[in-house]
Amino acid sequence: MGERFRDKHVLVTGGGRGLGLEISKQFGLEGATLMILDYVEDSLRDAEEQLKHSGIKVNVDLTDVSKRDEVERAVGAAEQIAPVDVLINNAGIAHETPFLKIEEAEWRRVIDINLTGMFFVAQAVCRHMARRKRGVVANMSSKNGLDAEFGYAHYNASKAGIILLTKTMAVELAHLNIRANAVCPGYLVTPMSMEIDSPEFVHSFVDRYIPMNRPGTVQDIPPIFLFLASDESAFITGQVFIADGGQLAGQKPSTQLLGKSL
Ligand SMILES: NC(=O)c1ccc[n+]([C@@H]2O[C@H](COP(=O)([O-])OP(=O)(O)OC[C@H]3O[C@@H](n4cnc5c(N)ncnc54)[C@H](O)[C@@H]3O)[C@@H](O)[C@H]2O)c1
Repeated sequence: MGERFRDKHVLVTGGGRGLGLEISKQFGLEGATLMILDYVEDSLRDAEEQLKHSGIKVNVDLTDVSKRDEVERAVGAAEQIAPVDVLINNAGIAHETPFLKIEEAEWRRVIDINLTGMFFVAQAVCRHMARRKRGVVANMSSKNGLDAEFGYAHYNASKAGIILLTKTMAVELAHLNIRANAVCPGYLVTPMSMEIDSPEFVHSFVDRYIPMNRPGTVQDIPPIFLFLASDESAFITGQVFIADGGQLAGQKPSTQLLGKSL
């Protein structure tokens, strides 16, 4: 067990599975006390059991981040345990639907959870941090917040919104000693993506778009959040950190072209 986040209270949303669970684990293994919010009771209980089994100090709260009253209650409960030092705003959903076919209810659900939910949690936590004049926030955006992926208009819009929400928080809250940054992972193998995409899709996507020739894993991302939550990034706020295997750097050359240049 490390000591990097000893005596720090870290609140993680959507920590019941996938990336949020791995981020929680990495903070916990560095000594943090965790408060995990998720709206799926079974995964929340499984996550709690798994983390406790690894010797991690963890509390959980069944909360839907898109419901303001639930968020206020859960953040109040977290603050009762200990002041929240770090917020990892990770909860999100994705639906793949062509732009012309997105129904209003689906559009609203994606925006309500991914963007409005993130705002509710950030505002509730930052009001406490503001009183203490200390705190760090890291918001989960996506490579899709910077570059459109077909079939994901609502998801892309929500993730782009998160970037400007983060930058606005950074400039408004800097004088209160609160930092806010956004993280943009590229394609990752997680329960979310595996519910949407087949292994054949992943293979052809990687082959066509990702210069590093592999999808990301949940292990690729948490170190960025640990860095952004630590004093090592004390002068960094309002920034966007991309981890995408090179996808946004430029067009991936074909095997034929690579062969020519080597
Ligand atoms: N998987 C990827 O390729 C990828 C890439 C870039 C960004 N992201 C982002 O990373 C985050 C985590 O994604 P993941 O792939 O681990 O997904 P996941 O579906 O595996 O995990 C998301 C977790 O968030 C929870 N959640 C969803 N809506 C919630 C709500 N309203 N209230 C509380 N909890 C809620 C879910 O129950 C789940 O436990 C998301 O914000 C996602 O957009 C994922």
